[in-house]
Amino acid sequence: MGQENQRPPKRSWAEPWKVKVVEPIRMTSLAERQRALIAAGYNTFLLRSEHVYIDLLTDSGTSAMSDWQWAGMMMGDEAYAGSRNFYNLEAAVREYYGYRHLVPTHQGRGAEHLLSRILIKPGDVVPGNMYFTTTRLHQELCGATFEDVVVAEGHDPDDESPFKGNVDLDKLDTLIAKVGAKKIPYIALAATVNMAGGQPVSMANVKAVHALAKRHGIRVILDATRAVENAYFIQQREAGYAGKSVRDILKEFCSYTDGCTMSGKKDSLVNIGGWLALNEDEVFEEARNLVVVFEGLHTYGGMAGRDMEAMARGIVESVADDHIRARIGQVEYLGQQLIDAGVPIVRPIGGHAVYLNARAFYPQLTQDQFPAQTLAALLYENSGVRAMERGIVSAGRDPVTGKHHYPKLELVRLTIPRRVYTQAHMDVTAESVIEVFDNRAKATGLKMTYEPKYLRFFQARFEVI
Ligand code: F0G
Repeated sequence: MGQENQRPPKRSWAEPWKVKVVEPIRMTSLAERQRALIAAGYNTFLLRSEHVYIDLLTDSGTSAMSDWQWAGMMMGDEAYAGSRNFYNLEAAVREYYGYRHLVPTHQGRGAEHLLSRILIKPGDVVPGNMYFTTTRLHQELCGATFEDVVVAEGHDPDDESPFKGNVDLDKLDTLIAKVGAKKIPYIALAATVNMAGGQPVSMANVKAVHALAKRHGIRVILDATRAVENAYFIQQREAGYAGKSVRDILKEFCSYTDGCTMSGKKDSLVNIGGWLALNEDEVFEEARNLVVVFEGLHTYGGMAGRDMEAMARGIVESVADDHIRARIGQVEYLGQQLIDAGVPIVRPIGGHAVYLNARAFYPQLTQDQFPAQTLAALLYENSGVRAMERGIVSAGRDPVTGKHHYPKLELVRLTIPRRVYTQAHMDVTAESVIEVFDNRAKATGLKMTYEPKYLRFFQARFEVI
């Protein structure tokens, strides 16, 4: 075609899809947003979505499904027992994640609930690579104490290490020696680590965790919510994996774990759904029995047949290399604009979100004045972009002392739904964040006026100081 002698052309990645259906969104006025913010008690979780312009609250359940997934929705078999869609989902989990047994649940925390009830005894200790809100709460409600064993870099927003989600093997070893393997029902390994900024775990690390755990007869349970994104980072960053597919990397990663909890609302490109997967027969038997008490029969677990079909198909789409490159490429596109403008964000840029470092925005505020909550509110006021606090409010209180946890990371998460927004939406978001950053000296912080007992970040209310 006459192109043989030319240099290979520079090619940006572009989305491997085109848009078939659109959902209108509306820009609001400043006065409207100020009213909405007061009504919501300065908590972005309490805003009505109709008052939001670009919704970066979460990537959970907010992704766009493909025409193939929607076609699958029409193939829903809504039989109470033995729905064909359950068997399709089971086959997809076996093929792509490699676990033997599947227990469907309504979403990730349903799986966490069942697992915690089955494996934890009061007084147990669960080590993990940083806490996640619902995961830790289910462990605590069953009488366990969570122990953070993530590498120190995970708590440092400026450290550029490629695998800041890794487990610190010395910390884990010391903990096992201290409390004894009998008190550790499992190691909770999340990939990627949400609260650290969407940071991945390396294959070398999961292998080493597995080997250490096996020496002591301890299980490794994966939080596979964003394990596909983790697999992409391994492909990009870890020696020996550049030539492997995300699909193969995912399966190898899971092979070093004994089971997983899954929120299908993230990687799997669906609006609702989750599952628990297990390799051990006895634990599976118990989970399959318990699921009928709390979720639904063991062939639907709280999901409609059509939801299971959409998830089975979403799993297939989620591991395609071109999909995941574009998904994480978009997050990097936003993050890079902020880095170029000098805005302090967690580095390296994470898999599902860009995390603003609220401490660095507002050195004038103490952590008790809720810098990240303040920043999320000011960003919404500025442009109608909705983000989420991931700092002291999310960290909650120590169940024994009743005192606030004071996490090192005081962050605001700009979470990117999959296949939903365009680069132009990312541009508007970056412009707004930069403007809020330029006005950072004016922020005065918030005080909490209402605090719910559990997972307070969802419903807490605040006033301006
Ligand atoms: N594990 C991780 C790592 C998560 O990010 C979530 C949810 C869950 C478990 C619980 O799953 O919501 O389906 O019950 N994260 C959402 C978020 C809520 O916005 O990060 P779920």
